[in-house]
Amino acid sequence: MDYLVTCDSLNVQHMLLKNFENYVKGPVFRQIFEPFGDGVVVADAETWKYYRTHIQFFIKQRRHEAFIEQIVQNKVKTCLLPILDHVQEHGKVVDLQDLFSRFAFDNICSIVAGRDPMCLSMDFPEVVIERAFNESEESIFYRHTVPMTVWKVQKWLQIGQEKTMTKACKTLDEFIYSCIASKREELRKCSKEEMDELPFDLITALITSENCGSMADKGKGRVHSDKFLRDGAFNYFVAGRETMTSALTWFFWLLSIHPLVEAKIVEEIKVNFPNNDGILGTEEVKKLVYLHGALYESLRLFPPVPIERKQAIKADTLPSGHHVHPNTMILFSLYAMGRSEEIWGKDCLEFKPERWISNKGDVIYVPSYKFITFNAGPRTCLGKDSAMVQMKILASAILHNYRFQVVEVTPITTRSKRIAVSHGGDMRLVAVGDG
Ligand code: HEM
Repeated sequence: MDYLVTCDSLNVQHMLLKNFENYVKGPVFRQIFEPFGDGVVVADAETWKYYRTHIQFFIKQRRHEAFIEQIVQNKVKTCLLPILDHVQEHGKVVDLQDLFSRFAFDNICSIVAGRDPMCLSMDFPEVVIERAFNESEESIFYRHTVPMTVWKVQKWLQIGQEKTMTKACKTLDEFIYSCIASKREELRKCSKEEMDELPFDLITALITSENCGSMADKGKGRVHSDKFLRDGAFNYFVAGRETMTSALTWFFWLLSIHPLVEAKIVEEIKVNFPNNDGILGTEEVKKLVYLHGALYESLRLFPPVPIERKQAIKADTLPSGHHVHPNTMILFSLYAMGRSEEIWGKDCLEFKPERWISNKGDVIYVPSYKFITFNAGPRTCLGKDSAMVQMKILASAILHNYRFQVVEVTPITTRSKRIAVSHGGDMRLVAVGDG
């Protein structure tokens, strides 16, 4: 329990920006987050830089934005809305957290591997890979709650949560390695022209960036091993899955207790797109400033990554005056910073989308070391823009077509409690126009 814990934005700015080189994830972090291998989320120094450059190459391609838009719009149109229609017609209750988790999982599978496992379908099937991801993440959480010697012995004996972790990782590895093998095969058979027609998923990008242009200078023309691709894919899966589920779930719960905000978003969609069915594109959702403010506000109050951990390399003094020794473990709370009166003012605990909108109607800029939800500095979240677009496409499609109420009047807590919808009166999912 030898940690330095802070939520001082100047300390965080110091660690994430000003003295970035001195604050790393470190070897203990990588041991605990073992299934991540050496991927971008856990790596430091050159390995981290190498991955980050490759992911940036993937994200900055012109076809990336269109690829994401097509995946998300298709998922909304062919899966999400038909399921909600069904729920409404049959007066059923649906677990929104589960729905969003399936939505996020299908999307991230398509983005990483070009494969849609169809987790989000009418019968809510159990998908082995999704369960394995959940189990591996729970096992990592478990490792934080016991001394390292305890989980190491359990791992060695293959008992308890560690046994679950080993099984889950085996399932995940089989899945990811099979995706890599079929991608390699597909690409090997393709001509250069045909290659441009293939879906531009992450694994394809990492394989094809092995020898291409400016990336070759950075990668010294190195051919990526299957392990490199596996770690790249695994890290992206995790970074882009639970974060999205968490963000969407809290957002819809906040709307359920702030009907005025919900009404304003619906109005904004109607005014901007009067003749639309609610399925908007990337450029269109950028016009929805109030929706943007509401999402940022939700992300401020409920950051999907609520805490981060760093390890100091050399001795240092933080702006707060606290001394840091080499190897000091530091925790900083994104959750606490999102609710800090010093940063957000007296109304810091209120859900106020207006906070983000200027008199001219633009989104107000807040430096990332204050609005820390997407991290700050050289390790800023690489999926921020894509996450915002995905959430806006989903939110506008749902809010344009349905109204929600939380079924149980029980306190909402992390993880265990469910947010649910049903149809008007007893059945509380109400289509627009139904009153
Ligand atoms: C609302 C959604 C999201 C939030 C709040 C979020 C937040 C964060 C945070 C706080 C970090 C830093 C974590 C750390 O260093 O320990 C991070 C890193 C990262 N995120 Fe996101 N993220 C979101 C969605 C996504 C999505 C959709 C993707 C990709 C599809 C993504 C890709 C990444 C990657 C690759 C990193 C590692 C960056 C690095 O270390 O250089 N994120 N994200």
